[in-house]
Amino acid sequence: MDIIENLKLMQETADSLRRVGKKIGVVPTMGYLHEGHLSLIRKARHLSDVVITTIFVNPTQFGPAEDFKSYPRSFAQDQRLAKAAGTDIIFYPTSENMYPPDYLTYVEVDKITQVLCGASRPTHFRGVTTVVTKLFNLTKPHLAIFGQKDAQQALVIRRMVRDLNMDVEIIVAPIVREADGLAMSSRNVYLTPEERRQAVVLYHSLQQAQKIIEGGEKDPQIVIDKITELIRQQPLAQIDYIALVDTEKLKPVSKIQGEILIAEAVKFGKARLIDNIILNV
Ligand code: PAJ
Repeated sequence: MDIIENLKLMQETADSLRRVGKKIGVVPTMGYLHEGHLSLIRKARHLSDVVITTIFVNPTQFGPAEDFKSYPRSFAQDQRLAKAAGTDIIFYPTSENMYPPDYLTYVEVDKITQVLCGASRPTHFRGVTTVVTKLFNLTKPHLAIFGQKDAQQALVIRRMVRDLNMDVEIIVAPIVREADGLAMSSRNVYLTPEERRQAVVLYHSLQQAQKIIEGGEKDPQIVIDKITELIRQQPLAQIDYIALVDTEKLKPVSKIQGEILIAEAVKFGKARLIDNIILNV
């Protein structure tokens, strides 16, 4: 496995791989790898000739009051895990090279970035779409794999790729969970033992919602009320949002039918956790 830090070298490497007909699969990450990330790498291994895992804690997607500085980092362990899961190249650029002092250009997807996580993190998705565009230009993938864990992010990237005619196939892989159901996340390390115990309520509330909907409930407000009630039973939980939306415009649905996304964000202390489920009704 190679580690490439230099931007130009990454592009030249990608070019030569393409010239000899290799299919490049890329898995963008911010590191501190866990089973969720590794499942994406394994999928890329299965679908491509050369797997590039990118590790870059992207400053532009963090708000000024957010956890950029304290975001967990573990490059030595990431190297071992990424390699074992089938990575050929880790692309590990520096912030200074990605965003030099005279940097001016951003990529922005409208509307669907202003709701859900975008409502409480107004510049977040612009940072994500900008860095993912840069990572695509640097690693030149045929396909790129993202996790359903960040449902809105996956939809925003699909939309960006479609709207800007980017020649990259976007693949979205299922959420990987801990044994009790908590969605794996690098930010789970922020949880105290008590917060960790309570955090499983995100998953339980989604399961409960699914049960109610499978039982025939059509009114989204009733489902939202039920989820809210369940989450509020956990004293350390602070709800950011709970939403039932369509999977294209991310607008609240007035009736539960067709494909719907149930998405929630809940804070436990320092950790803002998200989870979601897509149902076909
Ligand atoms: P990060 O949070 O490190 O996640 C990298 C990828 O792993 C994302 O596609 C995310 O959806 C996926 N992922 C995280 N937890 C997962 C889980 N439990 N199951 C399945 N997939 C999971 O998302 C980002 O980084 C950044 O925004 C990035 C796209 C790299 C741009 O900076």
